[in-house]
Amino acid sequence: MKDSPSSGPQPDGDAPSPHTWSGRFSEPVDELVKRYTASVGFDRRLAEFDIQGSLAHARMLHEVGVLSAADLADIERGMQKLLTDIRAGRFEWSIELEDVHLNIERRLTDLVGGAGKRLHTGRSRNDQVATDVRLWLRTAIDDIAGLLRDLQIRLVDLAEEHADTVMPGFTHLQVAQPVTFGHHLMAYFEMLERDRERLADCRRRVNRLPLGAAALAGTTYPIDRARVAQLLGFEAVAENSLDAVSDRDFGIEFCACAALTMTHLSRLSEELILWMSPRFGFVMLADRYCTGSSIMPQKKNPDVPELVRGKTGRVNGHLVSLLTLMKGQPLAYNKDNQEDKEPLFDTADTLCDTLRVFAGMMSGITVNAAAMRAAAAEGFATATDLADYLVRKGLPFREAHEAVARAVRTAAGQGKDLAELTLEELQRFSALVGEDVFAALTLEGSLAARDHVGGTAPRQVREAVERARRRLSA
Ligand code: ARG
Repeated sequence: MKDSPSSGPQPDGDAPSPHTWSGRFSEPVDELVKRYTASVGFDRRLAEFDIQGSLAHARMLHEVGVLSAADLADIERGMQKLLTDIRAGRFEWSIELEDVHLNIERRLTDLVGGAGKRLHTGRSRNDQVATDVRLWLRTAIDDIAGLLRDLQIRLVDLAEEHADTVMPGFTHLQVAQPVTFGHHLMAYFEMLERDRERLADCRRRVNRLPLGAAALAGTTYPIDRARVAQLLGFEAVAENSLDAVSDRDFGIEFCACAALTMTHLSRLSEELILWMSPRFGFVMLADRYCTGSSIMPQKKNPDVPELVRGKTGRVNGHLVSLLTLMKGQPLAYNKDNQEDKEPLFDTADTLCDTLRVFAGMMSGITVNAAAMRAAAAEGFATATDLADYLVRKGLPFREAHEAVARAVRTAAGQGKDLAELTLEELQRFSALVGEDVFAALTLEGSLAARDHVGGTAPRQVREAVERARRRLSA
């Protein structure tokens, strides 16, 4: 092992000096500028990943003969101590040292001396921060995928319980055709399943190693990037150094995934809010998910789903922030990118909390099957079934549609549902109507008739539930 070279200034000149950036500067940085440019207040959240990345980098430097065994041992010992201090909340973060990277490097140097100064050989904060964010995001994605799955399990259980529970299906928020509550819930299972797929796909692109790109052009040291990738569990190295340090598309993609998931949850929230209103009375949320009013004693408000709907706006906003952050940046790294962290952190935090609270909320839901049934029975939900019945008797669909429209008008005028008209009354709209029409007009008959993959027949809902369980355990 040859002796380690001591690190000279790095290509981007970002050596950790607390007051000036080296001999190049003739006065210290302005106090306000220092606060304005510091990121340690929020990027210290990356500390454990920063240390992980540094340890892999140091090990590789040692393996290629750039760092001595003694230096590597010092770095490993020092980082262990820092990690303990950080976890115990004993680490003192300083905005004099700008960001998480410089704070850790300086403290390491204080602890172990020369080895700490040699750690930054062959890298820059530019490839370092891109690596840290990817490591952090990979973990966040794994957490979110698990939480999505937990919520899906809850939806599937509830869907199975309500595979036969009739409710009105809506289009334009007008009663359209009967569906089962289980079928309705399984629609959300599908949305969340796509969200999970999207996240898994996004993870593949997050899981690439930027280290080795150094400031922007690569480095003159004989580094082994594949080895660092392997040590950090990255699937591959980022292929182009300029791209590796500058693009944040992986984070934008994550925010897009998150925005879609929040949007799905926001739609279900909107439905819960409607269903919980006494006008619908379809469901009741457990008291622990509601709040009262300080003035109106009768109120029980669906604050949790309302907040999910509200927080969706915030997550969508983060997506737009990051897209806007990126759009005007010339290659390669620009300090603009420091602004990627808060939107990313807040997106992950908001989504995790939302998924957790949502799974709990869906566990505490009470379903009023009688109210759902009554609403389905009131809204001429089986009008299409009557038309289909006439088609089966030989009438062209357009004529059947017209005959049923007239029947609905008559029934509505009498304040009755179609099934409450007499056979003679129904025959006035078409001579093809026979005794067997009433079977087609029942809610159960209507459901059972939609008996194909993706249909609302209770049998199909149960099969969908079974397939869903297999997909969840795959
Ligand atoms: N705190 C910076 C960030 O978040 C680290 C990279 C700084 N690099 C630089 N050349 N100033 O992006």
